[in-house]
Amino acid sequence: MVIPPLIEHKRDGKSLTPVQWAALIRDYAAGKVPDYQMSALLMAVFFRGLEPTELAALTDAMIDSGDRLRFEGHPVPVADKHSTGGVGDKVSLLLAPMVASCGVAVPMMSGRGLGHTGGTLDKLESIPGFRTDLTLREARAQIERLGCAMLGQTPEIAPADKRLYALRDVTGTVESIPLIAASIMSKKLAEGLGGLVLDVKTGSGAFLTDTARAIELARTMIGLGEARGCPTVALLTAMDRPLGRACGNALEVEEAIAGLRGGGPADLMAVTYALGTEMLVLVGAARSRAEARQRLEEAVASGRALQTFARVIEAQGGDPAVVEDPGVLPQAQAVEVYRAERAGVVAAVEPRRIGRAIVELGGGRSTIDDVVDPTVGFVITVKPGDPVREGEPIASVFARDEAGVALGLNALQEAVTVGETGRLTPLVSHRITSRGVEQLGEAR
Ligand code: URA
Repeated sequence: MVIPPLIEHKRDGKSLTPVQWAALIRDYAAGKVPDYQMSALLMAVFFRGLEPTELAALTDAMIDSGDRLRFEGHPVPVADKHSTGGVGDKVSLLLAPMVASCGVAVPMMSGRGLGHTGGTLDKLESIPGFRTDLTLREARAQIERLGCAMLGQTPEIAPADKRLYALRDVTGTVESIPLIAASIMSKKLAEGLGGLVLDVKTGSGAFLTDTARAIELARTMIGLGEARGCPTVALLTAMDRPLGRACGNALEVEEAIAGLRGGGPADLMAVTYALGTEMLVLVGAARSRAEARQRLEEAVASGRALQTFARVIEAQGGDPAVVEDPGVLPQAQAVEVYRAERAGVVAAVEPRRIGRAIVELGGGRSTIDDVVDPTVGFVITVKPGDPVREGEPIASVFARDEAGVALGLNALQEAVTVGETGRLTPLVSHRITSRGVEQLGEAR
């Protein structure tokens, strides 16, 4: 296949045919298209967008680049959720075992950190021994046994997305509605789901910062899902501040475990329950939201969700003792407290600055081959709107060394603004289905 004319075509704002998209993705997945040409094409898509027929063809080609999980005849409903990416977003770690404990099978297939956002796989791999590279056969067997598997894209599932995702991460081509939609939906539609819930992040730390674009992304993904027989619902959730307190791989695992033990930060739990409620209702595992919520709460209160997480960790080669003792997680070498520089009200905790600092500290990737340091990150205990006293400890930096601590303190100084006023935007602001957009509640 001759690639330069396709790049030029897209660069000039024209459409490629479904046949061209299919051939291009097939050849790229087979290693026949070099990354430099695919990077140029991605950049052209970034600026020019994709027609609906192109997006459908790209998504189908990405699904067809691999195999699918199959759940025909499975005795319980199958559902998953996917987030468009944020900072401090460890929801999947709690949600998968919680929903699985309510009798819904969850093949939680996740990605790695992308740009300034963290990735569930990187977080899970901070648990000593944890394997995310399950084969489809292993995943299927584990889901039958435990109701849940937490895996990355195997070479069998949407392998084209796996390569494109890593390429986009380092070529400035992440923040594109069609590329995000095709990436997420190709993975999710290959999972054989009975229902999918999307957590579409909005705000300065999201890939799509404004609400209108986030809604457009949600509608695009819902359109792709429903057209392929997968009932799909989206919630728009706030990413103008980090979610929860912990940001950084091992720190987030620790916070997720605290959540499963009933002691998670209120915002993390609110988003997790909202998404879990949608999952149970979508696949008919609960008749109402109230019932779904109550079952999820019971799964946490009874310890069943934590037990499911421990069993999943053990099944995937990790040390299940981590759910009792966070000391099992790798620990940062240098830790320092950050204090409010003045009295006032927190006006902003800028998630993008925090996410970038985690990458700079070694907790994310700047090039495809970077190895992630699981120990580094931040714990930030304030949110916009919180009053603070001068000198009050409001965050901690976790780093490899003193240079990392200095970098982290500097990032906190830039990210956390204390002024006269501050306010929390609604945590779960919209619910989007194929029928339309519903505006939801107030700040929480
Ligand atoms: N998550 C994905 O899987 N892909 C994207 O492009 C963004 C978030």
